[in-house]
Amino acid sequence: MVSATNGTAAPPGPPPGPPPTKENPYLAHLSPAERAIGGADASSSSSSSSDALTGFLPRRVTSKQVLAALEAPMNPFTSTPKPYSQKYRDILAKRKTLPVFAQVDDFLQKFQENQILVMIGETGSGKTTQIPQFVAYSDLPHMKRGPDGAPMLIACTQPRRVAAMSVAKRVAEEMDVSLGQEVGYTIRFEDATSKPHTFLKYMTDGMLLREAMHDKMLSRYSTIILDEAHERTLATDILMGLLKPLCAKRPDLKIVVMSATLEAEKFQKYFNSAPLLKVPGRTFPVETFYTPEPEPDYLEAAIRTVLMIHQAEDEGDILLFLTGEEEIEDACRKIRAGADELAATSPEICGPLKVVPLYSSLPPQQQQKIFDAAPARLSPDGPPGRKVVISTNIAETSLTIDGIVYVVDPGFSKQKVYNPRIRVESLLVSPISKASAQQRMGRAGRTRPGKCFRLYTEKDFVNELIESSYPEILRSNLANTVLELKKLGVDNLVRFDYMDAPAPETIMRALELLNYLAAFDDNGNLTPLGEIMAEFPLDPCLAKMLICSSDLGCSNEILSITAMLSVPNVFLRPNAQRQQADTAKAAFAHPDGDHLTLLNVYHAYKTNCYDKDSASNWCWQNYLSLRALQQADNVRQQLSRTMEKFDLDLVSNQFEGNERRYYENISRAITCGFFMQVAHKSGAGKSASYTTIKDNQIVAPHPSTTLDHSPEFLLYNEFVLTTRNFIRTVLEVRPEWLLEYAPSYYAPEAFKDDGEVKRIMQGISRKLKGGASSGNGSGREREKKKARKG
Ligand SMILES: Nc1ncnc2c1ncn2[C@@H]1O[C@H](COP(=O)(O)OP(=O)(O)OP(=O)(O)O)[C@@H](O)[C@H]1O
Ligand SMILES: [Mg+2]
Repeated sequence: MVSATNGTAAPPGPPPGPPPTKENPYLAHLSPAERAIGGADASSSSSSSSDALTGFLPRRVTSKQVLAALEAPMNPFTSTPKPYSQKYRDILAKRKTLPVFAQVDDFLQKFQENQILVMIGETGSGKTTQIPQFVAYSDLPHMKRGPDGAPMLIACTQPRRVAAMSVAKRVAEEMDVSLGQEVGYTIRFEDATSKPHTFLKYMTDGMLLREAMHDKMLSRYSTIILDEAHERTLATDILMGLLKPLCAKRPDLKIVVMSATLEAEKFQKYFNSAPLLKVPGRTFPVETFYTPEPEPDYLEAAIRTVLMIHQAEDEGDILLFLTGEEEIEDACRKIRAGADELAATSPEICGPLKVVPLYSSLPPQQQQKIFDAAPARLSPDGPPGRKVVISTNIAETSLTIDGIVYVVDPGFSKQKVYNPRIRVESLLVSPISKASAQQRMGRAGRTRPGKCFRLYTEKDFVNELIESSYPEILRSNLANTVLELKKLGVDNLVRFDYMDAPAPETIMRALELLNYLAAFDDNGNLTPLGEIMAEFPLDPCLAKMLICSSDLGCSNEILSITAMLSVPNVFLRPNAQRQQADTAKAAFAHPDGDHLTLLNVYHAYKTNCYDKDSASNWCWQNYLSLRALQQADNVRQQLSRTMEKFDLDLVSNQFEGNERRYYENISRAITCGFFMQVAHKSGAGKSASYTTIKDNQIVAPHPSTTLDHSPEFLLYNEFVLTTRNFIRTVLEVRPEWLLEYAPSYYAPEAFKDDGEVKRIMQGISRKLKGGASSGNGSGREREKKKARKG
């Protein structure tokens, strides 16, 4: 028991707690803390550590000890002794005013006495930045060694990359250590940690899930903090289901589940009546305003409100929430134009306005621009400059953007919905939940008082908005999740302890897809191919395509295409220069389809860009996004490492004199992964239309396609639901390939209706009868090859 609760001072001498176990007398040369953790690795802890942490017994630490260590002259967390900087002390003074600081005692007591703790505290109260640090003082992970000899870790998961990166940066500053060393972050395709030094790691929930695939016991982690649990992302939900039974196997592992807007009871109940810690109090007040009448056009109202704030409100930056990239870029343009006009007509009232967009497909470096300072005033006594950040709901949770005073919330976001019947996942603009509205408001009032303008009526807020958003697991295609779960050793997907169980039909659809992809056998077990597919941080169709490409001799090309499909759109099409942009794109166009066009772009980029200047010039001239291409290059490199690890050859077929075959093999490899995403043409000429095979949805190739004709069979990468159903990134494929690589999916018997596709497949089948069948495509081949190797 820890006695120093409620601010009571701990008695001098050895810290209170359960009677110490008999100590090893041969460890007398070590400090008490070092002795407490076993001594085996004590040589790695510096004298500075022992100074500030003298008397600390892991998981029996008092608030008094922590508060004293925070004031110590030397940093106990760095590997070489280092005095604390003045900046550290300045930030510490601010940290001490945060509501969670008043609760450090309560937190330590509840954390140390329980294996799982649920915690709620207002937005901005200090959960994400402070709690992991308190845990560090209690766990002392930097002084313990995990099974691989590296320090133990505290993980704090975030649903979004931008939050993981920015919070890690802030906490590194607060702890006076280098980002990427003692404190780091891991997001998909970026690892800013150092194995020998990192002990506090912010990471996306998806990354922790991937780590669990290789280490089911998560043995490097001493504490896992699931932050923003209210968001109920797929990965957080799966992590909860994994951690719950893991706690029984690892009594030393601790879990903290946190958020500002949590249905705490539900979480407590799920985690076997885990205790709750509630942190009262806000950092700064936020005044909320509603519109008296509903706004007929939220975009127009949002732009008007931002420009009103710019004219009428005191100094301070603005954060506006919109739903997606296009809408945000449109609003950026209109707000810039409006601000320029105001600056011209009322220079004495309106200073310069800087508009910064934020959405998930922007590369991380670009996203960091939201943290840039507002522009300076134009003259010493002129009005101050202002920054407006226009973001999707990725800025809704976790983020602190210093300077934000005004939040404008129109009340909508794009939400994922999945229809398992037609296997289409799409994003629909829908009203947000009360929890989201509260999180949005909470982006203000963090470093100073704020105002939140809700562009809906108070009555609508109370009566129309649902309490919290539906968990993502109920609204998603689960193919990837089911593959991950199998890899994680979860055999019975139906009996897995979901907080909210997905619809059986959704699980069935995922199992069916993975079976057709040959990742699962007919008994629902992971095949050797499925094992490798799960290793790639990619959608199962992409992973399958990549793996098959080695056998088809085109893995170099497919790797480039996969990388290009994994980054934001590389083609830029500025409103004023659409024609020029389209002409530039046409130079790369491949008549067989967009995948090959992407390959042409990547190849041209690698050929023409040898340094920074040549790259930016070339991209500029060709209306291409240099950032997206650089990102593709990075993704390609990372994926190539996974390919090497699994012995997947990186090869190319001969091009000269063999072009037709060269491209055909690439198209065949794509077919191996995407044969379930194919549409068939009916009719001819202008009246031709496409219908997706088996799901029977009428679709049209997206206008952005480079395909110059209407082939009979069209494979697509993406189904886009807008005003009509579009298929985007399309490729001509041959029906023989479909039957060759997916015989069970395209076997005539597998078609319910007697349509044209069935007849075509019957015809091909008859022709093939007697000839050698290639089984379930290259996947099976690879399985056989693996089996032979094994
Ligand atoms: N980058 C930063 N710059 C300045 N102050 C910051 C920064 N990050 C955090 N802070 C300060 O620390 C406080 C706590 O931030 P933290 O992210 O820990 O809050 P939180 O409780 O996790 O909030 P939320 O529920 O919104 O995620 C902020 O309110 C702010 O005062
Ligand atoms: Mg937080």
